[in-house]
Amino acid sequence: MKTALITGADGFMGKNLRVGIGRIPGARVIPFVRSDSEARLAESLAQADVVYHLAGVNRPKDDTEFVDVNAGLTRILARASAALDRKPLIVFASSIQAELDNPYGSSKKQAEEILAEYAGKHEGRVAVYRLPNVFGKWCRPNYNSVVATFCYNIIHGLDIHVSDPKREIELVYIDDVVAEFAGHLDGLDAFQGVRFLDVPRTFRVTLGDLADRLRELNGMRESLVVPNLEDDFMKCLHATFLSYLDRDSFASPLDVKTDNRGQLAELIKSRQFGQVFVSSTRPGVVRGNHYHDSKVEKFCVLKGEAVIRFRHVLNGEVLSYPVSGDSFQVVDIPPGYTHSIENTGGDEMIVLFWANQVFDPDKPDTYSLDV
Ligand SMILES: NC(=O)c1ccc[n+]([C@@H]2O[C@H](COP(=O)([O-])OP(=O)(O)OC[C@H]3O[C@@H](n4cnc5c(N)ncnc54)[C@H](OP(=O)(O)O)[C@@H]3O)[C@@H](O)[C@H]2O)c1
Repeated sequence: MKTALITGADGFMGKNLRVGIGRIPGARVIPFVRSDSEARLAESLAQADVVYHLAGVNRPKDDTEFVDVNAGLTRILARASAALDRKPLIVFASSIQAELDNPYGSSKKQAEEILAEYAGKHEGRVAVYRLPNVFGKWCRPNYNSVVATFCYNIIHGLDIHVSDPKREIELVYIDDVVAEFAGHLDGLDAFQGVRFLDVPRTFRVTLGDLADRLRELNGMRESLVVPNLEDDFMKCLHATFLSYLDRDSFASPLDVKTDNRGQLAELIKSRQFGQVFVSSTRPGVVRGNHYHDSKVEKFCVLKGEAVIRFRHVLNGEVLSYPVSGDSFQVVDIPPGYTHSIENTGGDEMIVLFWANQVFDPDKPDTYSLDV
């Protein structure tokens, strides 16, 4: 059993790390939060293999708190660890600002120095991460994270203030931090002293680009378009953005087209992978009887009974594929075959469709022709 002590366990990074480490078989987490005593810290430390020292203040009411907490609590931790025979690895969440001359940066630098002195005198092991801005779910908006603030405000229809759209910032994604930090529990850290380490993947973005991407993601909820998932940053940003949805606004209505055949609604659209849509069809109704030159599709009957029929546009032979919601199958619709799907059951039929193109009414690539 590996034990991780997490200080600041109720903060943004603390919560994510608690969940991440909590999933590792054979690992347990001892959280340390603001209301806990110094005695509890010492007690917990004695059981820990790794201490993730995340407790800190980023935006205190009074600058003296920087020194009191960021340096002061680190000193308490170092002293308590020095008194132990079996010293845990200390992973410290420092900041790139440790190199800057500001009260936050100076307090982080001071904390690093306290840990270096402890490691030197007491054969301790310390891994220091000078993190850039971390983004991801559960980060507090309107506090110290521009991503959290922009996400929250855009999703809630509030203004965002982009001070300098050309200013570039460096960001690191919370899941990457958690994966990197959790790796220390594997016991691979045979080093002594202090190591400065980095989370391998970071992103650089201007504030203007960040705001544009988040506005685009907001619009995508209505347009049904999903972002380009080959863009790793956009993928992380999309997940982060959606984490700020209010609990009562996860669901959005679809534009459902209803006629005497049944209903049809588009679900997901993508410039890269086309679109997904769903239909319900009444018994006896036949949909389709058209072909495409280049558009290809996949049909999957989710409920009901159907026959999908094909005929090559240049010959008369009809191919029939009976399909049923009782045993899911995916049927490819090749180009140049006129095709139809008939509800042959006594009940409503539900079909899930994928097409490799988003439907364009000006260029539908769909030609009517009876099978
Ligand atoms: N997020 C980033 O972009 C970033 C970048 C570089 C470095 N860091 C550092 O990484 C650490 C975690 O950041 P975060 O974004 O998760 O910050 P956070 O959300 O503010 O979490 C920090 C946690 O520490 C707690 N805390 C403060 N003083 C404490 C004390 N004396 N004893 C016990 N707990 C205390 C806070 O409690 P309260 O809520 O009661 O104050 C809070 O729960 C911080 O040290 C931060 O400086 C963060």
